Amino acid sequence: MPYYISRGKLPKQRHIVFDKPDGGIYYEQLLSTIGFGGVYSLTYHCNTPTNVKHIGEPIDVAPVAVSDMNMQMRSLKGFKVKPETDYIKSRKVMLFNADVKITLAAPTQTTTDYFFKNGDADEVIFIHQGEGTLRTMYGNIDFCYGDHLIIPKGTTYVLDFKSTENRLFIVESFMQIRLPKRYKNEDGQLLETAPFYDRDIKTPQNLETHDQKGDFVVMVKRGGKIYPYTYATHPFDVVGWDGQMYPYAISIHDFQPITGRLHMPPPIHQTFETPAMVICAFVPRLYDYHPQSIPAPYNHHNVDTDEVLYYVDGDFMSRNNIQKGQITLHPVGVTHGPHPGAIERSIGKKETQELAVMVDTFKPLLLTQDAVDIEDEDYWKSWQI
Ligand SMILES: [Fe+2]
Repeated sequence: MPYYISRGKLPKQRHIVFDKPDGGIYYEQLLSTIGFGGVYSLTYHCNTPTNVKHIGEPIDVAPVAVSDMNMQMRSLKGFKVKPETDYIKSRKVMLFNADVKITLAAPTQTTTDYFFKNGDADEVIFIHQGEGTLRTMYGNIDFCYGDHLIIPKGTTYVLDFKSTENRLFIVESFMQIRLPKRYKNEDGQLLETAPFYDRDIKTPQNLETHDQKGDFVVMVKRGGKIYPYTYATHPFDVVGWDGQMYPYAISIHDFQPITGRLHMPPPIHQTFETPAMVICAFVPRLYDYHPQSIPAPYNHHNVDTDEVLYYVDGDFMSRNNIQKGQITLHPVGVTHGPHPGAIERSIGKKETQELAVMVDTFKPLLLTQDAVDIEDEDYWKSWQI
């Protein structure tokens, strides 16, 4: 996570008695990663966070692949995914492998009868359409169009929407999602050369303490199933916390593009990383300024990564007939590049208004039936001249 912060009331030291003002004590919880060797936070609860009243029957949400390998360029019309009222049902996995799931969702309202916790994976929720508040025990983060919400594994949350027309692009990662290490100095501060600054990171605010007893259902996702856990106390009963493990947000609109005299390679667009993938942001920017530069990218061979692009807004310079919410997938082993005419069209252009999120995975991605249902079957032919 980005850096150490604290919210609310804390005891003077960790692991000591923390008295409530009217008798009794607050209960400490450590949320740790990588076997107590990674980032962590300490939270202080009005009630013990372990009081489970009931465990319901699991719901199977494991994605099923339509084939055991994909070796074709694919295009999915993401906005064809149908809106759903329920948050969990709205999440449709499109592409996945052992490390990553790429999901589209169009939830129409706030789910009020349960909380959600991903026990398997960190999540990046990119807000393509919609606004509202991410509510967690760490506090709240208001979100709107363009925000990446980064929600660490094990965070219980609710997406409280103000809007009904919501479109989410979700990346689940079994490995911890981090800001790129090369963007930071030895002390962990974002470097001057990074495309965003620590100030651009939105952290949880307005800590709400719900000291309530009752029946509180947390839908816990693990191993392709969701387990309904009923707790005896409200999951957001924290009076204070500190540490470096917490949800945060970065807006794609705050990503400051790095440009050059000649074409700059994809790593300059990077926002997040894990050992299994990278996430990038393509944002409006001035084009290369060499008098003979070709702003469109060169053809390139996918040697190591399957490449997923999620098109958000604007014209995408290298591709023809791109629509909002479209996903393209270009697999390892096959050269890909600009569509016919795109290279010539880009020469002499001064700027682009493109807005897109890219996910490159080191293991091959498989398609689900939900993906096939919204596929443009002829996409692989679109480079034919
Ligand atoms: Fe590419």
